[in-house]
Amino acid sequence: MLMSGLRQLGLAVAAAMALMIAGSAAQAAPENVGPEECKDCHSPEYAVWEKTPHAESYKDIHKRDLADKVTEALGERSMKRSDTCGQCHYTEAPNRPGGRVGNNFGVSCESCHGPGSEYINIHNVYGPKGTKKEDETPLHKAERFAKAREAGMRLPRWREDVPDMPTDVNYDVAANCFNCHGMARETLEGDTAGKMLDAGHPLNPDFELVKYSQGTIRHRFYHSTQDNEEMTPAELSRWYVTGQAASLVQAANAMQKTQHAKYIAAQEARAEKARAALGALDLAEAKALLAQPTEANAKALVGKIYGDKMDLSGQVGSMIPPKSEYK
Ligand code: HEC
Ligand code: HEC
Ligand code: HEC
Ligand code: HEC
Repeated sequence: MLMSGLRQLGLAVAAAMALMIAGSAAQAAPENVGPEECKDCHSPEYAVWEKTPHAESYKDIHKRDLADKVTEALGERSMKRSDTCGQCHYTEAPNRPGGRVGNNFGVSCESCHGPGSEYINIHNVYGPKGTKKEDETPLHKAERFAKAREAGMRLPRWREDVPDMPTDVNYDVAANCFNCHGMARETLEGDTAGKMLDAGHPLNPDFELVKYSQGTIRHRFYHSTQDNEEMTPAELSRWYVTGQAASLVQAANAMQKTQHAKYIAAQEARAEKARAALGALDLAEAKALLAQPTEANAKALVGKIYGDKMDLSGQVGSMIPPKSEYK
């Protein structure tokens, strides 16, 4: 009881400080609400998610031998309680509405879409009370997505029907996969990552966005709750390039974190693949990114290919993994 009281006090102080820092924009720091809060309105997406390793591994990943080895190597006692493991394996959220906050779910909606407390009641409101979807004004739509983004939502895709949506938003959701799958998270110290690898923690240099996002985790119910749509070849080509751009930037940054040889080699292998893919593009933005793998250059490339609705299958089509390889 005392601990949870202190914890709540800590959270309250943290929230108050975040408010002070935010100043006049006074918005509370976004927190996770947990996937159960998204379920009622997003049942098709939830049904896909609950069968993925992201959701399922929560049950038993901490029981694997490797979990003990890695946890011990960092001098921690429990995978489920560890903040280090939590940033990639768990969603820290209340176990039920109003319940106890902890690592209560695996990788879930908010791991990818952003902590929901501040956008959950913004992203789905079409106008003054009672306004229907088809009656939303373009101005309201533009504001709705801009506000949701400001409130911590990582928008899942660029939408032509939303006026003024930046054309590079897809970069954010793609780069976020590599935070975990590339062990490139800014909050993960290089030396900690090195110790994890030494203890046998995987770092898969073959993680590629199309292959890993279009199989089991795909949820694209854009037109009907029955139809989980596949990407068109043009969409696949843009998504593939977005993944390679994010991979290159994340790997280049991660390499600077540590001297750990194995970690650097894995990041180098990833960067090498991304350079080969991006090298096939006949675009000034791709050349600039190859010369200088910065986030700004990656976003310029992603913004260009979505904004101009390019079909790049002629240039990268042969490199995109076939459906039979989707995870
Ligand atoms: C009360 C119902 C409701 C709840 C709760 C809710 N959503 Fe939504 N959400 C919607 C509606 C309605 C839309 C479609 C908005 C539109 O038509 O643009 C939507 C759209 C989305 C989109 C897609 C945006 C796009 O570009 O197509 C994402 C991602 C999303 N919600 C994530 C979440 C997550 C994550 C949660 C839980 C933290 C959540 N939602 C909770 C109703 C809800
Ligand atoms: C930077 C993100 C990140 C952090 C931090 C992290 N993991 Fe992982 N972990 C992953 C990813 C991604 C995978 C899946 C890798 C794959 O399958 O390619 C994984 C896989 C695992 C696996 C399963 C491996 C297998 O092949 O069965 C275990 C066990 C594991 N992690 C334990 C831990 C423990 C314990 C900690 C904390 C000390 C931790 N991880 C911290 C990202 C992370
Ligand atoms: C591993 C990351 C990840 C997780 C976990 C995840 N999403 Fe998504 N989500 C995405 C990506 C990426 C897209 C964009 C898909 C596209 O357009 O290709 C997306 C798209 C969506 C959309 C728009 C497409 C549609 O089906 O209407 C909604 C809504 C959504 N997600 C809600 C959720 C909810 C709710 C959960 C949890 C039950 C969830 N997502 C879990 C990554 C994720
Ligand atoms: C918060 C960290 C995190 C994020 C963000 C994340 N993942 Fe994962 N992902 C994991 C972990 C951890 C595992 C391993 C679970 C296990 O081994 O049981 C995993 C497993 C997977 C798997 C199953 C792998 C296999 O070999 O079967 C796929 C596919 C996957 N992730 C795709 C994605 C994609 C695509 C994105 C981005 C849209 C993404 N993930 C974002 C942490 C994350």
